[in-house]
Order: sequence, then C-alpha cells, then structure tokens
Amino acid sequence: MKELVFATNNKYKAEEIQSILGSQYKILTLTDIGCTVDIPETGNSFEENAILKSSYVTEHYQQDCFADDSGLEIEALNNEPGIYSARYSGIKDDRINLELVLQRMEGVTNRKARFKTVISLMKNGKNTLFEGVIEGTIRQVPAGDQGFGYDPVFEPFGYNVTFAQMSMTEKNRISHRAIAMQKLIAFLKGQADPS
Ligand code: IMP
Repeated sequence: MKELVFATNNKYKAEEIQSILGSQYKILTLTDIGCTVDIPETGNSFEENAILKSSYVTEHYQQDCFADDSGLEIEALNNEPGIYSARYSGIKDDRINLELVLQRMEGVTNRKARFKTVISLMKNGKNTLFEGVIEGTIRQVPAGDQGFGYDPVFEPFGYNVTFAQMSMTEKNRISHRAIAMQKLIAFLKGQADPS
C-alpha cells in the first residue's frame, strides 16, 4: 500500500480521510513519521503556506505528502484576517480574534466573507493544488457553540444559522475544508498509479 503523509497532528482529520480513501493509501500523520517541528508558515498566501508544509515533509522525510492551510477572508477588511486567521490579534486565542473581527466590522454594512482552504499535494516530485471556498456573511452577534475559530459569526449563504449552530456532520458536508478534501480525494482515487 502506498504511504501518504498528511502534514497535520490532528489524528481525527487523518482518520477521516483514511476511511474515505480505503486501502489505496496508508495515511500517516507528522507524529507517525517522527516530525515534531513546528513547520514555519512564512508564506504570503494559503497556497504558499500549504506548499511550504508539504515540501518540508518531502524534503526532510522523502515521503509523498499533502498539507492544508485555511482562513477567513472578509471583503470589507481587504480579505483580512486571511493567512493571519489563527493569530489575528497577535495571539492564538479564538475568542479574542473573533472579538477583534467584530470590532473591526462595527458599523460596516458590507458583511461578505468567505472561508478558504488550499491543499498542496506533493506526489512523485510534483505539486498539485486543490481549493475549497464557502461564501457567506459575518453576523453582528456571535451565535452557537459548536466548532471553533470564527464559526460563531460566519453564516454561509443559503442558511440562516452560523457554522457554530450546525452539527459537525452538517458543517463537514459544506465547508471549505470538505470541498478541498473532496477534490484531493477524487484526484487520488482517479490516479491509475497504484505504485
Ligand atoms: P488552519 O489552517 O486550518 O489551521 O486554519 C487557520 C485558522 O483559520 C484557524 O485557526 C481559524 O482561526 C480559521 N479557520 C479555518 N477554518 C475554520 C473553520 O472551519 N471555522 C472557523 N475558523 C476557521
């Protein structure tokens, strides 16, 4: 079975994709390959950061790998917080970062925003990118207690609830991450190369 590293330490995310891919690939996490480095994400875009992570693994561990990078882009804030989503306020605290977004959006009428995920797959020395986007709006007041990050203020178009008011199953059916993952999975399943 061909091994493929997912540049994450999130065991749950890795198990989820393993169960979809079945026996075609064996998914390994960073922990599985003994990589304990906090891989630097110094790029200027989701694409660059995803590529930095996947190529770090292929260079240092000689293994095929994919990596994802995500964030929230708010139109009225020139697409901020974007690649700084995890640390918008300067610290990695979901509640404080969400409050900063609401503060910067005070009195702003254009509430359009999107979540974006980019996955970089480094396979046989070649990089392929997969993108997932979900459009929506930023609520004035947070609602819901599911999920993480900016979920309580993000209402996807066509719904009248926030991501934080959806069950994990429901969010995973429509999210930016799910869309990008489905594209990756379709690509991997479609590849005739069983080596
Ligand atoms: P990551 O690249 O998936 O680790 O995401 C980086 C940051 O973007 C997270 O720490 C969150 O602040 C934000 N983010 C990404 N995806 C989501 C989501 O599905 N819901 C809420 N926030 C998210």
